[in-house]
Amino acid sequence: MIHQSEKQGVFRSLTAYGDPGFSRYLRRAFLASAGYDADDLSRPVVGIVDTSSDFNPCHREMPALVNAVKRGVLEAGGLPFAFPTASLHEILISPTAMLYRNLVAMETEEMIRAYPMDAVVLLGGCDKTVPAQLMAAASADVPAIAVVTGPMRTGSWRGERLGACTDCRRLWARHRAGELSDEDIEEVTEALCATGGTCMVMGTASTMACLAEALGLMLPGGATPPFGSGARLRQAVASGRRAVALAQYGPRPREVLTPAAFENALKVLIALGGSTNAVIHLTAIARRAGVTLTLDDLQAASEAIPLLVDCKPAGAHYLEDLDRAGGMPTVLKALEPVLDTGAVGVTGRPLSALLASAAPPQPWQSIIRTLDAPLAGTGSLVALRGSLAPDGAVIKAAAATPTLLQHEGPAAVFDSVDDAAAQLDDPARDISANHVLVLRNAGPVGAGMPESGSLPIPKRLAAAGVKDMVRVSDARMSGTAFGACVLHCAPEAAVGGPLALVRDGDRIRLDVAGRRIDLLVEEDELARRRERFTPPPLPSRGYRRLFAGHVLQANEGADFGFLGPD
Ligand code: FES
Repeated sequence: MIHQSEKQGVFRSLTAYGDPGFSRYLRRAFLASAGYDADDLSRPVVGIVDTSSDFNPCHREMPALVNAVKRGVLEAGGLPFAFPTASLHEILISPTAMLYRNLVAMETEEMIRAYPMDAVVLLGGCDKTVPAQLMAAASADVPAIAVVTGPMRTGSWRGERLGACTDCRRLWARHRAGELSDEDIEEVTEALCATGGTCMVMGTASTMACLAEALGLMLPGGATPPFGSGARLRQAVASGRRAVALAQYGPRPREVLTPAAFENALKVLIALGGSTNAVIHLTAIARRAGVTLTLDDLQAASEAIPLLVDCKPAGAHYLEDLDRAGGMPTVLKALEPVLDTGAVGVTGRPLSALLASAAPPQPWQSIIRTLDAPLAGTGSLVALRGSLAPDGAVIKAAAATPTLLQHEGPAAVFDSVDDAAAQLDDPARDISANHVLVLRNAGPVGAGMPESGSLPIPKRLAAAGVKDMVRVSDARMSGTAFGACVLHCAPEAAVGGPLALVRDGDRIRLDVAGRRIDLLVEEDELARRRERFTPPPLPSRGYRRLFAGHVLQANEGADFGFLGPD
């Protein structure tokens, strides 16, 4: 049994009455009403962040995980306290979960600071919950360990294996092209999300779960066990046990979130063919931990590391296949020669020690490849610069049509997400497959940075068989999406970035090999257009006003400027 001093556990972070003895006495009184005695209150307190919500099907069996974590905490002699925070479901929230990532990060950080806990278990899963929680952990710097709800299992439709949401997009594109009827797409709707859990391709949720493990903030093997599996529950129990040890001995998140940890995470991101969103999230988490991460760091990793993991959208398989093939321990083992294996995570042991017992990729599987025989070459994510994105942009080259990676064409400009929705299929807009679709005012300030960057192919072109076009925006794209989409252009249009100056018909050149995205318009003409630019008005009140007034650009992580390191 563990007994602590009166400055730990439930006696941390005393309520400010000007009399610490009175504060402790009141705490004992109120906790006695909940059945806790002096023995309970002498134990390390482990907070459990519960992001259950009826609005979040990806978290629908989180109560079972909360119970599993509690069991682990109790078994190790700690005292578990679960508490709720906001829960972000990517599909049910409007206008975009990204608008609320920073809100959840702030809420989680403040609750960890405000309530008395010696360690915290972060239960997340759906896209923005995990980055929000890791940002909070970096700022609060209370020992923390991440657990996710796990990926959904795949479904099937007419004999075809299906999963959210690469197949959602592919089949919807076929419906738009007239290849699938209304009845077909209705059947598909019921087959795409076969279970609870997170999207089961290498989208943002899966990528961030894998990166939490790569960063060292999750127990080994925690990223990929499917939703509802025994392995998922065992991870939760083990994390609860480990949290009690973290409460006493650390390490703290900022001791885990070192430059070496982020360098490893970027390499893993490239090997996974992971989501472009992870670039923004990693930058924000690093900034909070006092580590500077830039698009140059991404590019260096991209040039060094090939694609090793065969999961959609860059590959062909699903997260349950990755889990069966060995999950993240085997991915990390495959990358061992290029990782900094001195990095120490929540196990308290260096990565080298963990990898000593990890299995390398086995010959009976093809999901996790080796550095000697990768799935594809280097450069799955590319950082671009150029006159359309002086502060940077990204493209997921591994998920684009290769012939479009070098392309020049006339711009077809849309001033907002609504404008694009209204006009893309308008026959009056003369858009060919050669056009470059430009979406602006969809960046952090302009719109909270929705996942609108993979604009749909105009219906007329889709019906003619066009599957991909070059698209350029200050928006993001779902990690599950496919296409030649230049994303995160910074500075964004709403703050006067070059996207604001593009007009229909201007020539745009994408040169992925040269790492450039350029607007081919003379500087004196751009200067004239710049003089006439007026920024759109900011929201007038509330959180949206706070967000638009303080959010940083994508290349800085789109966090609030005032939430940097202490
Ligand atoms: Fe929750 Fe995709 S909608 S992870």
